[in-house]
Amino acid sequence: MRIAIIGTGYVGLVTGTCFAEIGHTVVCQDSDDRKIEILLSKGMPIYEPYLEELVKKNREARRLSFTRDFEEAVKSSEVIFICVGTPPLQNGDADLSAVERVSMDIARCCDSYKLVVEKSTVPVQTGKWVEKTIRVYSKGTEFDVASNPEFLREGSAVEDFLHPDRIVIGSQNKKAENILRELYTPIINGSFNCPIHKNCLSKKETVPFIVTDINSAELIKHASNSLLAAKISFINSVADICEKTGANIKDVAHGIGLDKRIGRNFLEAGIGFGGFCFPKDLQAFIRISEKCGYDFKLLKEVERINEERVTMVVEKIKGALWILKEKTIGVLGLAFKPNTDDIRFAPALEIIRRLLKEGAFIHAYDPKAMERTKEEIPEVVYCKDPYETLKDADAMVVCTEWDEFIKLDFERIKKLMRRRFVLDGRNIYDKEKMLALGFEYVGIGR
Ligand code: UDX
Repeated sequence: MRIAIIGTGYVGLVTGTCFAEIGHTVVCQDSDDRKIEILLSKGMPIYEPYLEELVKKNREARRLSFTRDFEEAVKSSEVIFICVGTPPLQNGDADLSAVERVSMDIARCCDSYKLVVEKSTVPVQTGKWVEKTIRVYSKGTEFDVASNPEFLREGSAVEDFLHPDRIVIGSQNKKAENILRELYTPIINGSFNCPIHKNCLSKKETVPFIVTDINSAELIKHASNSLLAAKISFINSVADICEKTGANIKDVAHGIGLDKRIGRNFLEAGIGFGGFCFPKDLQAFIRISEKCGYDFKLLKEVERINEERVTMVVEKIKGALWILKEKTIGVLGLAFKPNTDDIRFAPALEIIRRLLKEGAFIHAYDPKAMERTKEEIPEVVYCKDPYETLKDADAMVVCTEWDEFIKLDFERIKKLMRRRFVLDGRNIYDKEKMLALGFEYVGIGR
């Protein structure tokens, strides 16, 4: 089928490329000149494993193309995916102005039937507004609106698209449902040559294809992310209780995670969650719930617990170093999670800002996220590797669990640091080993 992707950000580019990979013809459009310029000159505006090679392959196979021309993209496609950003407004609401603008523009250049699919993460009842907007501005052309939320994680977005736990469709009628079922058939049946797991043609079970109404599909997205965030704030609270009672959060998480109803994933206690999804989706869900007359106190508490992790980390450092003024603190990890350069809502940056306010000197290192962080916090000394970061440092603070931090040479680090205090914000080290090496070791919940 012929598909238009409106918005070539993290979701749009991955979605468009993977649809081309499974055999569809895709044109990706963006009004951001910089992004389209990079793509048209065969560059990549974002990093995701496998993405660059798939863009190249599908562009050469003429299944994937890029354009600034909105009208051309819409007129040449049957299905149009809205993948534009829905960033948080000052008051926490999702900013839906880009979704509205795209809906109007689609209406104006529709000259034949179109299925308009909202893939951007939007608050429940947005689909109703998209439908109303297109109806008002279109010249009576037939169209349908559907919701198809994404569940992509940064660092594994291509794999998550090609091998999803489920595909969720919110549709108004059978026609829209059948078009989307046809679109996703290769993924539902696993009947495509997977570029990641070479030629995994046959999959044992099919991918669940859930069809519901648009409101429910929109809610599934916000509720999923909020429940995942709640699980993290829950285990972080249990970690704090472990510290007060001499329990070990690793064993507690293992013990509860073996219950199949709970599951071991997302029970890693640490300095809290970041990224562009959890914080903003939580806020948007709280706000839309309030508008619908429900005070989502539980999610407000999930948010508060997460925000408090930064204070908890600074207090732990003070508990060891006492006065932070003029102390040198080596921070390892800036990205909100490993294998990405994304620092949006990253706890590390908030921790650094607090330490700077206390008058500490900050050295920092991250394999991928330093360039982006330099723009936000120029007063940090950015180092070329973990060892330079820790030279003459009074504390080592791990904020992101990059693999390279797990295999550090601690005999060498001992000689480099002025004070051998380690705050392991992601519990990546063995406490007994660190103590035996002569470090003052503080983890989270143990
Ligand atoms: C998330 C959802 O997982 C994904 O389904 C959705 O589509 C987008 O948002 P993402 O934000 O890319 O994906 O990252 P994720 O791997 O979910 O981690 C989010 C944050 O939670 C990270 O800061 C991570 O460090 C933190 N986290 C995760 C924990 O603190 N503990 C855990 O056990 C798991």
